[in-house]
Amino acid sequence: MGRVQGKSILVTGAASGIGYEIAERLVAEGARVVLADLRTEMAMAAAAQLGDAAWGAALDVRDDASWVDLMLQAAGRFGQLDAMVNNAGIAATPQPQDVENVALTDWRAVQAVNVEGVLLGCQHAIRALQSTGGSIVNISSVAALMGTPTLAAYGASKAAVTQLTKTVALHCARRGYRIRCNSVHPGLVATGLFEATFSAAEQAEKLQSIPMGQFAKPEEVAAMVLYLVSDESTHVTGARFVIDGGMTMV
Ligand SMILES: NC(=O)c1ccc[n+]([C@@H]2O[C@H](COP(=O)([O-])OP(=O)(O)OC[C@H]3O[C@@H](n4cnc5c(N)ncnc54)[C@H](O)[C@@H]3O)[C@@H](O)[C@H]2O)c1
Repeated sequence: MGRVQGKSILVTGAASGIGYEIAERLVAEGARVVLADLRTEMAMAAAAQLGDAAWGAALDVRDDASWVDLMLQAAGRFGQLDAMVNNAGIAATPQPQDVENVALTDWRAVQAVNVEGVLLGCQHAIRALQSTGGSIVNISSVAALMGTPTLAAYGASKAAVTQLTKTVALHCARRGYRIRCNSVHPGLVATGLFEATFSAAEQAEKLQSIPMGQFAKPEEVAAMVLYLVSDESTHVTGARFVIDGGMTMV
């Protein structure tokens, strides 16, 4: 039996990168998975690679109407939901993000996806899981845990996700919903987002900041998410899980 056998799980931002890797691992462990993404065709192609247990769908995490539509379709397709992984996120912006120069439009664009998108994801997950219980996993970052001089908007957005996670966890526990909510904090993972955010020189410099001497692999993040959506973590809520090769311990 797989570790999430028979569960239905929605993963946002699953057309590429970490989200796709999460979806792939969850399917391999017996789940049915909705791969939701702004890039609909890529999400559908990604789902097709994973077989009948996967379904690709359109979602703009910033848009409540898009969520309503997706949740209805997902319920029709896969029935009762068991878990939601709020993974979709952006980091790079057209203008520099240092705190002196960050443009308000860029700041808001990052908060819209990374914070409002996760808020909407949590709201829809709570509605869907309220009577049966389940797990919400929010993908934050080590950027939530340290100063981010070149990524002010991104760092603030991920700190907000970290705080929101605890608030959701406590709200659900107090209401007796049996919904757990935890945040996952990857360090540096070589994905499209990472390539778009850091130049080659910055990437080389970043590598020096990792005591274990290598970037994280998307599957190392997926392994943590698998644990958090599975029944192995039924007493775990409101917690932070860092996967950073030791970056934040120094
Ligand atoms: N790569 C890293 O080093 C790193 C480190 C820490 C945290 N993270 C976080 O991991 C998550 C995944 O990042 P990734 O590195 O795989 O990046 P990625 O760019 O490969 O994947 C992000 C996905 O989110 C989707 N997306 C963007 N805006 C969306 C929207 N409005 N609605 C729906 N989908 C949308 C994109 O289309 C893309 O498929 C993000 O939340 C990111 O902040 C990444």
